[in-house]
Formats: sequence, structure tokens, C-alpha cells
Amino acid sequence: ARPLVIAVDGPSGSGKSSVSKEVARRLGLEYLDTGAMYRAATWSVIESGVDLEDAVKVAEHVRNLDLTMATDPSAPGVWVAGHDVNEAIRETRISTVVSKVATNLDVRAELLKRQRELIAAGRDGVHQGCVAEGRDITTVVAPDADVRILLTASEEARLARRSKELHGNADAASVEATRDQIVRRDSDDSTVSNFEVAADGVLHLDSSALDFEQTVDAVLAAINRIV
Ligand code: C5P
Repeated sequence: ARPLVIAVDGPSGSGKSSVSKEVARRLGLEYLDTGAMYRAATWSVIESGVDLEDAVKVAEHVRNLDLTMATDPSAPGVWVAGHDVNEAIRETRISTVVSKVATNLDVRAELLKRQRELIAAGRDGVHQGCVAEGRDITTVVAPDADVRILLTASEEARLARRSKELHGNADAASVEATRDQIVRRDSDDSTVSNFEVAADGVLHLDSSALDFEQTVDAVLAAINRIV
């Protein structure tokens, strides 16, 4: 079969990461988490003591970044100069400032180049293709993807999901503690791309009323319809 590229965008808490990973696993495709690349870049900038406010230094640091992405959906991962950062990049101290690094246009240009290379490696004839997920995959990174999906969910549903991830439950206090982070990051990210509205030719899938399995099934059904 011809190598496939599937592009999935969505806001945080839309379920795009877990759903994309599972879809890649079921279809035997590679899985690229582009958010992890922005997070790893941010981790490295902080770790090196580069001033987050210094856009020129930040961009220079990211251009020289030794970043390794593992794209096996059963064992995805990210390393900076051989250092395993898979857990560190999920910490709140990264989530609260990642948008600052991600809105640096020179950083985006550098990571865009690397993302396109990673996606191309996923369709090299050895691999079957790639599911790439993020904020601008359907519009900027892979506008020519075979299937492009915007996965959204209501703010309520996204808060409940993230709260479970971060605090282990979705009681009122945990949801409130999560709200601040989610809503602020959405607004910080809104200059990157509009991920509320699907671009031309992008399929909009709202997962608010769907559980994980149903969302995976809906994405697989969409892929089957299109490919
Ligand atoms: O998907 P995740 O929440 O891990 O992404 C972390 C951050 O990386 C986002 O809040 C956004 O600032 C940035 N990002 C981006 N473009 C992408 C993927 C992520 O700007 N394609």
C-alpha cells in the first residue's frame, strides 16, 4: 500500500495525542507528537539558562538543538542530547511557558523543517506512513496530507480530561486548578493558528460526546472514507 500521511490538529485536552497514537498503532503507521518537540525545545532552553525573553538567543538555541524523536506509536519518545525528557516536558513549569517558545517564528521555522523531515522518513518505503499531530499540521506542516482532521471538544470536556490526567480525577477543585492552565495556554497559543475552525478541506470532528474508543473509531472511519 501507498504510504499515508494523516494530519491531526486540536487544542489541549481534545484527546488528539492519545487518539492519534492509537490510530497510528492500529494502522501500523509512525506517530509524531509535534507538541513534544516544542516542549523539549522549551525544556532545553530553560535547562541551558537561556533567557526566555531573548527571542534571538532562544531561536539560536533551538537551531542547534540535538533533538531525537522516537515515532513508534507503541514506544514514542523524545530525547535532548541523549537525555530522556519524556516526563520532564509534561511538568507544569514547561506547560506554562511553552507557548512563549512556540510563538517565536524562528523556532517554528526550525521545528517545521524537522517535522517535515520526520514525516517524510515515515513514508520512505520502509515505513507505512505517519500520523502527525499538533496545532498547525493540517495547515502548515502537512497541508498535502492524505487525511486532515481537526479534533475539538467543548471546554468542559477538555477540562475534565486534562484534570483526570493531571490530578487523577475531575472533581470541582481539580477542574478549577486545571482551568487556569488550559484556558491561558489556549489564549497564548491562539496566535499560532486558529484551531477552533477547520481550514478548507479539513474534516472537523467534535469529540465532546465521545469516549476514547468512539473517537478512535470515528477517526478510523473518516480515514477509511477518504483513502
Ligand atoms: O500538544 P501539546 O499540548 O503538548 O503542545 C504543547 C505546546 O506546543 C502547545 O501549547 C503550543 O504552544 C505548541 N505547539 C505548537 N504547534 C504544534 C504543536 C504544539 O505551537 N504543531
